[in-house]
Amino acid sequence: MALIEFRDVRKAFGPKVVYRGLNLAIERGESLTVIGGSGQGKSVMLKMLVGLLSVDSGEISFDGQVISGLDERGFSKVRRRIGMLFQGAALFDSLTVAENVAFGLREIGERDEKAIRGRVTESLGYVGLEGSEDLWPADLSGGMKKRVGLARAIAVRPEVLLYDEPTTGLDPVNIARITDLIQHLQRTLDVTSIVVTHDMPSAFRVSNRIAMIQDGTVIFSGTPKALANADDPRVRDFVEGNAPENEDASVILGGTA
Ligand SMILES: Nc1ncnc2c1ncn2[C@@H]1O[C@H](COP(=O)(O)OP(=O)(O)OP(=O)(O)O)[C@@H](O)[C@H]1O
Ligand SMILES: [Mg+2]
Repeated sequence: MALIEFRDVRKAFGPKVVYRGLNLAIERGESLTVIGGSGQGKSVMLKMLVGLLSVDSGEISFDGQVISGLDERGFSKVRRRIGMLFQGAALFDSLTVAENVAFGLREIGERDEKAIRGRVTESLGYVGLEGSEDLWPADLSGGMKKRVGLARAIAVRPEVLLYDEPTTGLDPVNIARITDLIQHLQRTLDVTSIVVTHDMPSAFRVSNRIAMIQDGTVIFSGTPKALANADDPRVRDFVEGNAPENEDASVILGGTA
């Protein structure tokens, strides 16, 4: 049985339909990358999985249990097992790095201060930021913020890690560092992961399987190799970077020539 399954999930915000039938299963131990254009619903998918957004219909199951529709209490149990790196890291500016990393631990009820300190140090070590406990988010570069966000996600030792655009906006050195880190965590912590990214080289490196979402549904799911050989023009355009914006631009340029 799949560890995570979206079954015919529908989701709209007012008139804006984001999902009109999302079906996707993620097996235990899998590293799935989700690609798709801006605004297609990638972040919404992850937020529905951890209960930050509800589904309109359909269901999401995790480890054999239907979780969509659970109350806050039910979802707090799910969130112990699923860590999430938010798009933009989403650190609390008024908390130190250590307190940011400890946040999830406190939220799940850990009260042993020594255990919390130990877990914080260890998690910062995983992301190469040992010794930065007392810094403030305002003191950090974009790459460091993402790494602190990742340390916070792994601090609760989740079985599943969700990464929402972990490399977007970073320089090439930090992109390589974060990509290495995702691979390292997959191997050493043996987690199931879902990575949302626009970055095709890192998608090819970190995933067993890639799913592309567009127009409210999954339009492709397969190995990186199958993706590279896909015939669907929508998939090819995305992978090759032929964004519709570019077509529009050429129409405009053609029009003025
Ligand atoms: N809380 C919300 N209220 C209203 N609309 C929302 C909300 N969250 C997302 N949306 C809308 O849902 C659609 C999908 O948003 P989402 O953030 O999932 O896109 P995305 O695929 O993650 O894009 P990007 O690559 O730019 O991060 C967008 O049209 C967005 O405006
Ligand atoms: Mg997003």
